Amino acid sequence: MTHLTLIRPDDWHLHLRDGDIMAAVLPDTARRFARAIIMPNLKPPVTTVEQARAYRERILQALPTGMQFEPLMTLHLTETMPLTEIAKAKASGIVHAVKYYPADATTNSEFGVTDIRRCYPLFAAMEQHDIPLLMHGEVTDPTVDVFDREAIFIERHLAPLVQAFPGLRMVLEHITTSAAAAFVRETPNNVAATITPHHLLFNRNALFEKGLRPHYYCLPLLKREEHRQALIVAATSGNPSFFLGTDSAPHPRHAKESACGCAGIYSAHAALELYAEVFEQAGALDKLEAFASFHGPDFYQLPRNRDTLTLVRKEWTVASELSYGADMLVPLRAGAEVAWRLAE
Ligand code: NCD
Ligand code: ZN
Repeated sequence: MTHLTLIRPDDWHLHLRDGDIMAAVLPDTARRFARAIIMPNLKPPVTTVEQARAYRERILQALPTGMQFEPLMTLHLTETMPLTEIAKAKASGIVHAVKYYPADATTNSEFGVTDIRRCYPLFAAMEQHDIPLLMHGEVTDPTVDVFDREAIFIERHLAPLVQAFPGLRMVLEHITTSAAAAFVRETPNNVAATITPHHLLFNRNALFEKGLRPHYYCLPLLKREEHRQALIVAATSGNPSFFLGTDSAPHPRHAKESACGCAGIYSAHAALELYAEVFEQAGALDKLEAFASFHGPDFYQLPRNRDTLTLVRKEWTVASELSYGADMLVPLRAGAEVAWRLAE
């Protein structure tokens, strides 16, 4: 196959940041995706509908003229979020989900939740108003091995949550393990998962290939090959509970190449093309459209896009770095080839 035309996809997990650096990365996403679920982990985080509205305006302002893109906003859950914010979020029409981060799990998550049970009243309100809960599904218990954080989260927190709130729509974001894929497959359709291109393309060896590789450091961490294989099976299965979410998370080069480097991989510049590589290698290119363009809007109860996008099987070389405001950004596959490209 040399051409692949799909209904235009959406990205159901994206970090756009803010200001100049947002302006630098936004066109990469808008060129490929009609909509994206925008993560709220700014500094300070987006915790109110008013902040989400203002952030949404800044995103639309930063969009180059002639480009179409719809940011789907989220709120950052806190233990002190008033219950009334949930009703407001539903009524706003612009906030599409609330994001749970365990405190100190990842970039800017110092405002996250220390005890998930304190949020049960908020989950009840979200269930009542039918607002999805998005989860960074990792425990931060220092006695739990970092590679086991997701599996333990499922056991300790997610399983009880699914029991307690059978009507709450939930997305386990950026899943990385066979345990997560199996859990989502075996629970009813109110529990879904996003899968990133990097967790489909790489196992944890990538972090240590002939030296320490900070540009492969993201959270949740890359896992063993058997887990990568399980994610490929899930993504290409046609099961509507699995859909595209890049978790493209830019950081300036110096913040990655540092004694205490930031977590996050930038993939927006080639996101759909990289997924196409994975699906092609799995012999499942016919499953890409549903994963990228149907399952997400169906879960979020939004219309599927109507226009299309065409990929061409033609290699191109990714730049070794991209400009990122006053800094530089090292994209995934920097200086190397990607097998698919967007049609002109
Ligand atoms: C994300 C970021 O940099 O904002 N980093 C990452 O490794 N994925 C935060 C997150 O989604 O955990
Ligand atoms: Zn993320």
